[in-house]
Amino acid sequence: MTSAAERSHIADPTLAPEGDLAIEWAKLHSPVVDGFLRDRLSDGALAGRRVAVVVHLEAKTAFLATVLADAGAEVVVAGSNPFSTKDEVAAALVERNVEVHSTQNSGYEAWEKDLLAVADTGPEFIIDDGAELTIRMAEFRPDLFAELKGVTEQTTTGVARLRSLEAAGRLPFPTLAANDAACKHLFDNRYGTGQSTVQAMLNLTNMLMPGKRVAIVGYGWVGRGLATYVRAMGGHALIIEVDPVKALEAFMDGHVVAPYAEALPQADFVITATGGKRAIGPDHFDLLKPGVILANAGHHDLEVDVESLDEQSTSARRVREGIDRFLWNGDKAVFVLANGALVNIAGGLGHPVEIMDLSFAVQGVGCHELARGGYPTGVSVISPDLDAEIAAAKLAAHGITLDTLSSDQLDTVDLD
Ligand SMILES: NC(=O)c1ccc[n+]([C@@H]2O[C@H](COP(=O)([O-])OP(=O)(O)OC[C@H]3O[C@@H](n4cnc5c(N)ncnc54)[C@H](O)[C@@H]3O)[C@@H](O)[C@H]2O)c1
Repeated sequence: MTSAAERSHIADPTLAPEGDLAIEWAKLHSPVVDGFLRDRLSDGALAGRRVAVVVHLEAKTAFLATVLADAGAEVVVAGSNPFSTKDEVAAALVERNVEVHSTQNSGYEAWEKDLLAVADTGPEFIIDDGAELTIRMAEFRPDLFAELKGVTEQTTTGVARLRSLEAAGRLPFPTLAANDAACKHLFDNRYGTGQSTVQAMLNLTNMLMPGKRVAIVGYGWVGRGLATYVRAMGGHALIIEVDPVKALEAFMDGHVVAPYAEALPQADFVITATGGKRAIGPDHFDLLKPGVILANAGHHDLEVDVESLDEQSTSARRVREGIDRFLWNGDKAVFVLANGALVNIAGGLGHPVEIMDLSFAVQGVGCHELARGGYPTGVSVISPDLDAEIAAAKLAAHGITLDTLSSDQLDTVDLD
């Protein structure tokens, strides 16, 4: 049997000591993964099982991979986006004997190859993000796809992709929508993405938030979080939505709601959070304010159509690490952060560690549940009881205990 180092494809193994420090920091602030999840995995359900972890490859993901490996799983890891991998973390994982196929800023072609290399290890379970490995196995490795025992999926976009496969009759195994668990989307999509996206934008640009008008496209869980942190930092959120209920929610939350044609000409920053494509595309370029800064928080790199912007601009050049400038109509400058990839991850440190402690507890528990069996074919969600157990473990880690209802606090109906 070859070593993990021989089987892996990473940039530079000598970076391992730096990556190791980052993983240890993640461990320090991940009490639920390090405690609650470890305890659940100690029943041996994952021992000897092949698990692929395809999530943005940075320290928190690496820590999850080590916990799975400690439980006896044969873990193979790749990044879920070509721009978000941290090479030092990949090196540290390989040093810990975990197989990795991923390099930072690899470009799409190399990234696709890495994902197929993971597929070719024949995983039984996938901990996926955006269903990036699952959809590629369905398309390019149908025989290995048919052998999968289960997938647990991190994101809104990935769950939508799994549901499309299910609707097309092409999902022959159980999957868990980790995103739909309360302990995931209520905290990760809202607070995690909200804080880390605003933080990354301000760090990349070295700019001030007070007084800025920030158009947010999409007021789902992510958009709500973004607007909360924009406001907290002194900015003004302008919400662009297509769903009337979500738009009304934004209005009731006290934000300005407006269509593209009104919001874009005033916006100093635009953040996309729709889960769809071309939230900012050729139809919108003329509306953008000169000097606007575009950032994407959604899963698709296509939420901001950087390719069209590039094709239609008269000049494009990098003006600062993580910032590209496109000149439009001769002299209107439009700036794009982190190539249009998820700015909080590709251009920042990603979600706060304590948030990923929850999300990865949901993912790890999901993978363990799938290994124990009993879930139907198609897309399911972990039970509310399990969600509550994870929340209780997180509260306990913060030293918070709860009361329970006494019998005379219960309002029951007495039936004769
Ligand atoms: N950056 C991160 O770390 C991170 C974390 C969690 C989720 N995500 C991703 O963020 C995206 C959004 O996630 P969510 O949980 O908020 O999804 P959601 O489905 O709750 O919300 C998306 C909202 O966008 C609206 N929308 C769609 N297209 C639109 C358009 N063109 N114009 C205006 N509104 C539009 C929808 O009506 C919906 O209300 C997904 O791709 C998800 O995978 C990213």
